[in-house]
Amino acid sequence: MASTHKLVLGKWKIIYNLSSVVGLLLIAYVIGALYLRGDSQRVLENQMRPHDSILRCNLFSGKWVYDNISYPLYKGNQCSLMEEDFACDKYGRKDLNYQKWRWQPCDCDLPRFNATALLEKLRGKKLIFVGDSLNRNQFMSMVCLIETSIPPSSFKSLTLKENSIIFKATDYNATIEFYWSPLLVESNCDDLATHGVRDRIVRVHAIEKHARQWTNADILVFDSYMWWLLPKMKLLWGSFGNSDAIYKEVGMRHRRYEMALNTWSDWLEFHINRTRTKLFFMSLSPYHSVSEDWGVDKGGNCYGETEPILKEGYRGSGTDRGMMQIVESAIQKLKTSGIKVEYLDITQLSDYRKDAHTSIYRLFWVPPTEEQLANPKNYSDCVHWCLPGVPDVWNMILYSYIIYS
Ligand SMILES: *[C@@H]1O[C@H](CO)[C@@H](O)[C@H](O)[C@H]1NC(C)=O
Ligand SMILES: *[C@@H]1O[C@H](CO)[C@@H](O)[C@H](O)[C@H]1NC(C)=O
Ligand SMILES: *[C@@H]1O[C@H](CO)[C@@H](O)[C@H](O)[C@H]1NC(C)=O
Ligand SMILES: *[C@@H]1O[C@H](CO)[C@@H](O)[C@H](O)[C@H]1NC(C)=O
Ligand SMILES: *[C@@H]1O[C@H](CO)[C@@H](O)[C@H](O)[C@H]1NC(C)=O
Repeated sequence: MASTHKLVLGKWKIIYNLSSVVGLLLIAYVIGALYLRGDSQRVLENQMRPHDSILRCNLFSGKWVYDNISYPLYKGNQCSLMEEDFACDKYGRKDLNYQKWRWQPCDCDLPRFNATALLEKLRGKKLIFVGDSLNRNQFMSMVCLIETSIPPSSFKSLTLKENSIIFKATDYNATIEFYWSPLLVESNCDDLATHGVRDRIVRVHAIEKHARQWTNADILVFDSYMWWLLPKMKLLWGSFGNSDAIYKEVGMRHRRYEMALNTWSDWLEFHINRTRTKLFFMSLSPYHSVSEDWGVDKGGNCYGETEPILKEGYRGSGTDRGMMQIVESAIQKLKTSGIKVEYLDITQLSDYRKDAHTSIYRLFWVPPTEEQLANPKNYSDCVHWCLPGVPDVWNMILYSYIIYS
């Protein structure tokens, strides 16, 4: 996680300058047509469903079904804005079955992602993903889902600005942004380009510097988990570089996470316009670094895995339930103050997907050593996800909440 991350600005300054698309009418009631599968009975049922019944269905409980007809939703090389970190096919991954699994909730089908419908909904609005590189993974998936399905003629751009990567669909005046603040609160890892800091220092009571950038968003999607897992980090009372600042090394990961989420909640309570801004929190994204978790030889990890785990209810050792409960209770507390944060619990569905991480098929900003190259699993990234892939499903769920609520 603490990798050095360099971004080449030029790569991001991609401006398309072609003719614009004609504005599309928003036809409200076409759910039936949105379904991926040709199962006519199911389609008929779905046509009958009132909008909000999609959200009454538990989208998080279900199973993965191999579906090489409807998937992948896009091809990696069709997404011109794709980041090198997630571009597995470009970096040599040959087994592509991981792209062909559909998430099938028990009681309904996931609505098909419709980029036009989403952009209509986001017209004149701003959606911001706030958090760490997993949220960036999701942001990039969103950009690819949209970019590969709107006409190539439509205006779009991707730019870097301070802590943000900003995607604009100009024809819709819709902005989708990623804002880097991996611990949500302030820390010494807040630089989007270089955050490989060894000694992590967190100002657990300070969020304003970041949060003021989010105040005018219409939709906010938060995540924060992995960066809290270090056994020890320093908490800071006072400001960086201030002589009377107090530093305290704190081991308890749950306690410090709770403190940060309290700061986050307080900020929301006092600064968010409840009628304007929709709030989401993505539950933790699991990683697959210990193959013993799924009963395979000692010392392995996600490297070389080509199929999902099919054992129902599988939970890996990297998934800290206690951390999830802290988020859940922060959200519950906000609810009593009249602030609704939708908690999108993508942990279980992602926990099945040991096959879908980038492993060695991505650009490594610090190139692997000879020794590592000889043992690929030693440098495999079992945290981030290939695109197309699992984060697309997170976005299909987010999409359902944005469109149908
Ligand atoms: C889909 O998978 C099935 C079973 O593995 C295979 O027979 C079929 O050719 C595949 N179809 C496509 C379009 O790849
Ligand atoms: C996608 O949404 C647009 C706008 O709501 C609609 O016109 C179009 O028919 C939808 N496409 C599909 C495939 O359902
Ligand atoms: C475009 O959207 C932004 C919000 O993201 C809004 O402030 C601005 O007024 C909009 N511009 C136009 C021309 O609609
Ligand atoms: C909150 O947002 C609503 C809807 O956009 C707007 O009408 C209202 O003026 C806003 N309230 C404040 C206090 O900004
Ligand atoms: C790399 O892999 C080899 C063989 O699997 C192992 O013996 C070694 O300890 C690993 N090195 C590191 C630095 O993890």
